[in-house]
Amino acid sequence: MYRTVIASKYNYKLQDKSSNALHHLICLCVLLIHFTYMFWLSYNPADKCLIQTPNLIKHLVRPIDSCSYCKALSQPKVFGNLTQKKFKKHAYKSHPLVLKNAVNHWPAKQIFDVQFFKRLYQKYENALLYNYYEGCNYFSYDSGIPSLESFFAKIDTIDSNEIKKVSWYVGWGNCDPDVLAEMRKYYPKPHFLPDDAETPSKEYVFMGYDAGATMHLDFINRLMWQAQLKGTKTWYLKPSPECEDVCQSLSFLVEPGDAVLVDTRVWYHGTTITPGEFSLAIQSEYG
Ligand SMILES: *[C@@H]1O[C@H](CO)[C@@H](O)[C@H](O)[C@H]1NC(C)=O
Repeated sequence: MYRTVIASKYNYKLQDKSSNALHHLICLCVLLIHFTYMFWLSYNPADKCLIQTPNLIKHLVRPIDSCSYCKALSQPKVFGNLTQKKFKKHAYKSHPLVLKNAVNHWPAKQIFDVQFFKRLYQKYENALLYNYYEGCNYFSYDSGIPSLESFFAKIDTIDSNEIKKVSWYVGWGNCDPDVLAEMRKYYPKPHFLPDDAETPSKEYVFMGYDAGATMHLDFINRLMWQAQLKGTKTWYLKPSPECEDVCQSLSFLVEPGDAVLVDTRVWYHGTTITPGEFSLAIQSEYG
């Protein structure tokens, strides 16, 4: 009797010890799952890296190109309104392409202007915040307008006729699903892109008067298409430094209704709007 009591006490203790260990293990697992989940939540697939690297470091560690994207090119490849089938063989070569009039039929060409976007962002008042949290960047270039919000606040003055002489250029990503859905009422996915092309759920707007974007490289995951909807613009492309001996810089003019495709990850690029013109373009990626 006494022995069984001891034994059961011992057993009990043993059990207590192992259940304690089990308890710790469960806690550890729960913590592990929790942190994995938090990490997964904070991981934004739109970002190229989990940890953002400063631009300077990115410039230093950029892989050396084979230069096939620029060799023997003295101008972009210019086509008409290519079909999906004909576009396919050019789609991933990183040669600069201009498809004349390929987006001429987009209603956005008539409808998009500064006020269209101002109204859109007034209608969806959380969109600015949503863009911010989704990493949808705003680019002020040399305009001195620090945010999209201040751009919309200032634009009526900037755009009024008396001071039309002020030149400005801005761009921003649209991530907010409501804003995107409304924008996409006025243009389709470019018809020439391959059916299986991966496209991000964000599209950029670039607009300005009499100015443009200074030379830079983009740190994005895919190739880029841009639909020139209003105004004419000159593109300047420069091969990356390791290809400067075998390739040359090029420049070309795009007109409203043209689609431009540039691998902005390997071509340094800048744009200048034709003096005295307002320019508006929609841009996104494919891969
Ligand atoms: C270009 O091609 C697309 C698809 O075939 C067509 O819908 C569009 O109307 C064409 N645009 C022009 C300007 O011909």
